[in-house]
Amino acid sequence: MAIKIIKTTPFKGQKPGTSGLRKKVVEFEKPHYLANFVQSVFDSLEKYKGKTLVVGGDGRYLNREAVQIILKMAAANGFGKVLVGQGGLLSTPAVSCIIRKYKAFGGLILSASHNPAGPKEDFGIKYNTSNGGPAPESVTEAIYARTKKISEYKIVDEPDVDIDTLGEIKLGKMTVEVIDSVKDYIQLMEELFDFDLISKLFENGFSMRFDAMHAITGPYAKEIFEKILGAPVGTVINGKPKTDFGGGHPDPNLAHAHELVNLMTDSDAHSFGAASDGDGDRNMILGKNIFVTPSDSLAVLAANAHLVPGYKHGIVGVARSMPTSGAADLVAKDLLVKSYETPTGWKFFGNLMDADKVTFCGEESFGTGSSHIREKDGLWAVLLWLNILAARGESVEQIMQSHWEKYGRNYYSRHDYEAVNSEMAVKLMDNLRAKSADMKGKKIGSYEVELCDDFSYTDPIDGSISNNQGIRILFKGGARIIYRLSGTGTEGATLRIYIESYEKNHEKLNIDTQNNLAELISIAVQIAEVGMRTGRYRPSVIT
Ligand code: G1P
Ligand code: ZN
Repeated sequence: MAIKIIKTTPFKGQKPGTSGLRKKVVEFEKPHYLANFVQSVFDSLEKYKGKTLVVGGDGRYLNREAVQIILKMAAANGFGKVLVGQGGLLSTPAVSCIIRKYKAFGGLILSASHNPAGPKEDFGIKYNTSNGGPAPESVTEAIYARTKKISEYKIVDEPDVDIDTLGEIKLGKMTVEVIDSVKDYIQLMEELFDFDLISKLFENGFSMRFDAMHAITGPYAKEIFEKILGAPVGTVINGKPKTDFGGGHPDPNLAHAHELVNLMTDSDAHSFGAASDGDGDRNMILGKNIFVTPSDSLAVLAANAHLVPGYKHGIVGVARSMPTSGAADLVAKDLLVKSYETPTGWKFFGNLMDADKVTFCGEESFGTGSSHIREKDGLWAVLLWLNILAARGESVEQIMQSHWEKYGRNYYSRHDYEAVNSEMAVKLMDNLRAKSADMKGKKIGSYEVELCDDFSYTDPIDGSISNNQGIRILFKGGARIIYRLSGTGTEGATLRIYIESYEKNHEKLNIDTQNNLAELISIAVQIAEVGMRTGRYRPSVIT
């Protein structure tokens, strides 16, 4: 086996963010760019020789080429085996599942999540560790440090590997096993959920649409819903993964999943609608003419978990990111289990799940998951909803109404100001931080400030501290306004304002969310002086 040592120079701007390295495809197409990153990952790991790596991606443009480079570099660097999804395809939750199931050393996921794909759009790569979760900051920092020093990388001089035929092949001394992209993941879903009960729903005419948005979940969803559970063909829409995701923006929310939203508001709407994102970890849940906020979804799933085989003994705890509404906390209190409030980003949930402190986790950004893997999981959330709908024999709307009757309702919305001038955005936050010092006790309109701070989190497991995680204004009675800057944007800064109010009284339930939050929304833009400081008088996206 001929190993080539290729001389390279470190690239600027390779700092991996919370979701790995995400850049425009043109960057990744520069000579050695991907290889530099992959070698930096390998150089940051210890004792991986002879061990197994899992590789797969969401099928976007460059996916197949990237897989070949990774396979050849893994062989040159001494991995014993690579498990690669057929055609190079694996959803993010499937990678997490496969790493755990086969006790792999780690995995490389090729994806830029919900960001558009194609030659002019985004590509990404991220490393997950042996627990199946995203690499912790200590690892991503080590990778980053390495990318700044790297001078050469190793790759075998061999022809491309056939990644379309299932089975084992040798690449130098390393074994490449091309695995079925959906099988292991579906087996795990079958262990957690009552598939027979869910199939009865479809047998009785229950009508659902799942929008795969031309991304990775298509093959998984078709197999699960249309083949195994017996839903009619056509239940999965946009089910064929395309390298450019059909030119769309596969982010399952009210702004981007409009095809599904329209289907669910038709006069002959389906009973249930759901969508997932580019790499399959996000989810959106819709009922007939009703949208379930991700924050409410987490709460409802927690409250009903015991109805589902995989969670029949109940849940040990719930975690939510700080900007996610407090709905799940109310359920946790009722169930007498602990609830945790973490900074934004899935990685903070990993420690809690590894230590068996929580079973369910969720973020307002359409991410829900459980300790069955260490990533959020779009199809898992959809199946959990279906299992609960089947077990309760009720509609989404009925379930939501009775949930709000019992717990009260957290009205919730997020307003994003995208591609704001970065300097202006930082100044806006600085100004807010300065203001927050003496906001306590202030009366603003019909609200009184109970607490105002910049959220800081101490990890209960490893004691690590994360500061400056977002400015919180907490009002008496449970209303909140949160401000933070996105950590995942690729253009300028994105200011996110999260607005929440809490109504214990069920009578008020029919008020439209934006209307209900109108006063808080105007307080939010006034306090931050959004218009004056950014030149933006309207959010770019409301979810
Ligand atoms: C966004 C979401 C966050 C999620 C992350 C990765 O990050 O807000 O909840 O974990 O994408 O999917 P942000 O751009 O806000 O930093
Ligand atoms: Zn994603």
